[in-house]
Amino acid sequence: MTIRQATIEPSDAASSAAAMITWQATHRARVETALDQFLVTLSSSAEASRLWDAMRYAALAGGKRWRALLVYATAQLGGAEVAIVDAPAAAVELLHAYSLVHDDLPCMDDDDVRRGQPSCHVAFGEALALLAGDALQTQAFWVLAQSKMRDPAAACALLASAAGASGMVGGQARDLSGEVATVQDLEAMHRRKTGALIEAAVMLGAACATLTPAKRAALTRYAAAVGLAFQIADDVLDVEGSTLDLGKTAGKDAAQNKVTYVTLLGLQNAKEKMRALCEEAQQALEIFGTAAWPLKALAAQAVTRSH
Ligand code: IPE
Ligand code: IPE
Ligand code: MG
Ligand code: MG
Ligand code: MG
Repeated sequence: MTIRQATIEPSDAASSAAAMITWQATHRARVETALDQFLVTLSSSAEASRLWDAMRYAALAGGKRWRALLVYATAQLGGAEVAIVDAPAAAVELLHAYSLVHDDLPCMDDDDVRRGQPSCHVAFGEALALLAGDALQTQAFWVLAQSKMRDPAAACALLASAAGASGMVGGQARDLSGEVATVQDLEAMHRRKTGALIEAAVMLGAACATLTPAKRAALTRYAAAVGLAFQIADDVLDVEGSTLDLGKTAGKDAAQNKVTYVTLLGLQNAKEKMRALCEEAQQALEIFGTAAWPLKALAAQAVTRSH
């Protein structure tokens, strides 16, 4: 039986909020199940099993799954069969989990807390955390390559360019370079280190769907705006949040003298910028009418979240 994603549209604010809670819980559960299945080792050796333990620790314990939800919500707009969407949703989360493990390493941000628990390298040691990150990344591509998407090779290429030197890794290198000085530099860096994977999540969802070129263009505009908004919110939360709420060390950017939207624009302007980007993202979805409510709600969450 073909199961299409739910498209019942809420009619007022209260039912919208309730519908979003249900929609999110349903799709979060789907990606959690998929991740669990994609992270089962067949090996019986002690070393391999410790590596898989580290991978599972990093990928399964917590996380908002916001990028996976973007994949589902976008695919839903084009009437995708939900079972096909589980693989790209999980692949994006595997890639993201790897990026967090490496981001926390002592040679990068040197962060001891992630998702409310000791970072992977604190729990498993630096070398194994490095390898767990590597293996989470390759697992993401394995999952996409084995998927039932129309064109798995194209999906792998899309994720590779978002994740690699011209995308997330390039942005991380720029972040560590200490050369970011202007708002233009910062925007270019944020678009790569965080925006690129978020855009890939949306476009992988689109790849599961059937959409007109105009609708695909609208989704590209949505993804670019929401991707930048998400990292500005991360910079704001680093200043305003507590380690307990964030599940990662608060005040880390200031401690490491990072140039962020908050340091360049100030807290209020940074917040205004992220809210304007949220509106821009939501307006880009006009072409879909009310059917885009989950994507609109996810944009709002990007800038109103507490962690
Ligand atoms: C944190 O991402 C890292 C950034 C790119 C800003 P999230 O805030 O999505 O982290 P999790 O997945 O919910 O832990
Ligand atoms: C990292 O940005 C983005 C990644 C590509 C992982 P941050 O270094 O600001 O992310 P957090 O604050 O540690 O989650
Ligand atoms: Mg970092
Ligand atoms: Mg960091
Ligand atoms: Mg941060």
